[in-house]
Amino acid sequence: MAEQHFEVIVIGAGAAGMMCAAEAGQRGRRVLLIDHAEHLAEKIRISGGGRCNFTNRRVGPEHYLSQNPHFVRSALSRYGSTDFIALVERYGIRYHERDHGQLFCDDSAQQIIDMLRAECDAGGVAWAMPTTVQSIARGEGDTGFVLDTARGRLRCDSLVVATGGLSIPKIGATPFGYRIAEQFGLPMVAPRPALVPLTLPPETLARFADLSGASLDVAAQCNGARFREALLVTHRGLSGPVVLQVSNYWQAQAYHDGEWEPVGIDLLPDLDAENWLLSHADGKALLANLLAEHLPRRFAHAWCALHGWERPLNRFSHTELRTVATTLANWQIVPSGTQGYAKAEVTLGGVDTRALSSKTMEATRCKGLFFVGEVMDVTGHLGGYNFQWAWSSGHAAGQFV
Ligand code: FDA
Repeated sequence: MAEQHFEVIVIGAGAAGMMCAAEAGQRGRRVLLIDHAEHLAEKIRISGGGRCNFTNRRVGPEHYLSQNPHFVRSALSRYGSTDFIALVERYGIRYHERDHGQLFCDDSAQQIIDMLRAECDAGGVAWAMPTTVQSIARGEGDTGFVLDTARGRLRCDSLVVATGGLSIPKIGATPFGYRIAEQFGLPMVAPRPALVPLTLPPETLARFADLSGASLDVAAQCNGARFREALLVTHRGLSGPVVLQVSNYWQAQAYHDGEWEPVGIDLLPDLDAENWLLSHADGKALLANLLAEHLPRRFAHAWCALHGWERPLNRFSHTELRTVATTLANWQIVPSGTQGYAKAEVTLGGVDTRALSSKTMEATRCKGLFFVGEVMDVTGHLGGYNFQWAWSSGHAAGQFV
């Protein structure tokens, strides 16, 4: 096939790549979008249980983790959640708000994919999909890029890397974007699975067998971060939104004395447990029956059995009841690991943003090379923040490519 030239080539037709391509195309740039996948934007399709939690009413830098925490400010302020909501409304996509300001499609995530595809069409974006990129080199005179692909040789002035993170390899995630960064001398922040269920060591799992299946409204904390959402105890460990949230903060510190740091769980976040227990200190009821006023009954009994607290309240000393209260407010569990990229929603780490312009997403030492979306070291909390970063960073780069 004859060699072709585009002003902009975007590798990765996911959330950030489509947003960037559409913006650049609508500015009049000649854009090609390349993806190796058979199906378009699989991660959007499966997101939010098929309804895509596409953004959040409240989005700020405090909702993101990065080694360079101020990096997100500029792009979020220039294209925030209200801008994306306006786009969704322009396409007549019906949506609803859930807890913590999370916005979901009423019908299907496919509507978001169709909308982005229509935006790309409005910008005259060309597609090469499925197509693999075999190699990338600098063009003559150290300007532009030359790509060898399964469809032949392509040239471009600006190259945008939008290949995402490593989660869910079976739908197309690869470390290709990291390799491109390394090839052009950009530093990396070591990637690891995030927004991911935590596993427990076999001895803890054996002790927790009777707790498995429990679903509770708790607060969980780890390394200074605290979240209030649902916890699920599973046969492999801990899951549910609150655990996905704290997983971003777990393993942030060193492995010490043969163990990772614990996750602390407040089982009664709306209650002063010590006063409540002491006010029932003379009662003849089993501790588990009192706890069952606020916790699922089966869980309350299994939790008391786990701690050897299977007796009536009046057979606890006040000191013992204080210990129970402390354990209820900060039940410490030491995970052994995570369920890995197969179950993670996102990747922590990635291309080090200290090597990128926060205004344009361009590599400061490699003119014409841009990174957008999850491939870089920016990770959002659960709740629509990761897509918002894809929209904001894709939009930012789309103005400058
Ligand atoms: P994204 O992963 O969307 O796109 C990357 C693209 O690059 C893919 O199309 C891939 O095929 C392509 N690619 C990779 N390697 C390539 C190569 N070598 N050559 C060519 N193409 C290549 N977030 C949120 O805010 N709300 C939510 O509801 C959810 N829900 C959710 C559920 C599940 C199960 C997962 C796994 C993730 C979420 N997320 C989420 C996270 C969200 O999906 C994610 O952060 C964004 O899709 C990131 O957008 P990107 O465009 O950066 O990558």
